[in-house]
Amino acid sequence: MSDFIETNRLNWDDRAALHATDGTGRYQIPRVLSGGSSLHALETGEIGDIRGRDIVHLQCHIGLDTLSLKHQGAASVTGVDFSPTAIAAARNFAAQAGTDAAFVEASVYDAAAALHYRTFDLVFVTWGAIHWLPDMRRWAEVVASLLKPGGRLYLLDGHPQMFQCKGTQGKLAIKHGWRTPAERPLLFEETHTYTGDERPLTHQRMYEWFHSVSDVVNAVIRAGMRIDFLNEHEILTWRHFPGMVETGEDQFELGPGYPRIALSFSVGATKHDKVAARTIRPVQSR
Ligand SMILES: C[S@@+](CC[C@H](N)C(=O)[O-])C[C@H]1O[C@@H](n2cnc3c(N)ncnc32)[C@H](O)[C@@H]1O
Repeated sequence: MSDFIETNRLNWDDRAALHATDGTGRYQIPRVLSGGSSLHALETGEIGDIRGRDIVHLQCHIGLDTLSLKHQGAASVTGVDFSPTAIAAARNFAAQAGTDAAFVEASVYDAAAALHYRTFDLVFVTWGAIHWLPDMRRWAEVVASLLKPGGRLYLLDGHPQMFQCKGTQGKLAIKHGWRTPAERPLLFEETHTYTGDERPLTHQRMYEWFHSVSDVVNAVIRAGMRIDFLNEHEILTWRHFPGMVETGEDQFELGPGYPRIALSFSVGATKHDKVAARTIRPVQSR
């Protein structure tokens, strides 16, 4: 594991411990433990009917969305995360909910081996995932290797244009470049996690990589998947800029005065059935 990734793991271990004992209501723990769902209308609508599907959830965090997928009818759910604290919390929640789910501790890039090369109907990746990863091509190859032929990827995450911006008092200014080189991640430091929890983080540093939409989409195509849709949305599940307004449960939009930009995007893709992976070589300047 690189130093960057190890630094992030320490940060996520801290966050997972706080989120698993969340008292802010940000995580829908009681609802999921009683058989309900923490998924939002957006992802529920876009993934479509998951009944009877085998699903792997990459970067599953404390497993609440993973359990929700099972509660919504998936045949099997498997969550993967590199944080042992998150995985322990997820297993504990599964036991409390009485929900059959598997949780595996592994870095995304090691997921195929960690899952013994098992394949799935759906790879599910949402909300705060790919900006923790340095390399989209390797990520897409992992996704493709986890899919059965005809299996689908669903990705929903923060929009790179939003991550580039700093927002203050109704103004957005470009602060970061549009794609972060793998070997030069952006360093951030936060004293507290994003839930509003007053307990401080012990490990406050983290490294992130912003990926352009084209890098994500071309990586998916190159890995042998067909793009079914690419959507952009004006909503987020966290208050990224000051003055964002809550427009639904766990759903935020830019407040009055801000220019409208896409805050999140989603990609649906299907692994080619019989045709060999296409050898498109997108131009990427790294
Ligand atoms: C914001 S959370 C994702 C939340 C998720 N959508 C959910 O269902 O709650 C980001 C997660 O990514 C995990 N993560 C970050 N980098 C990772 C990596 N390289 N490999 C595996 N997991 C990683 C963190 O441990 C954390 O649980």
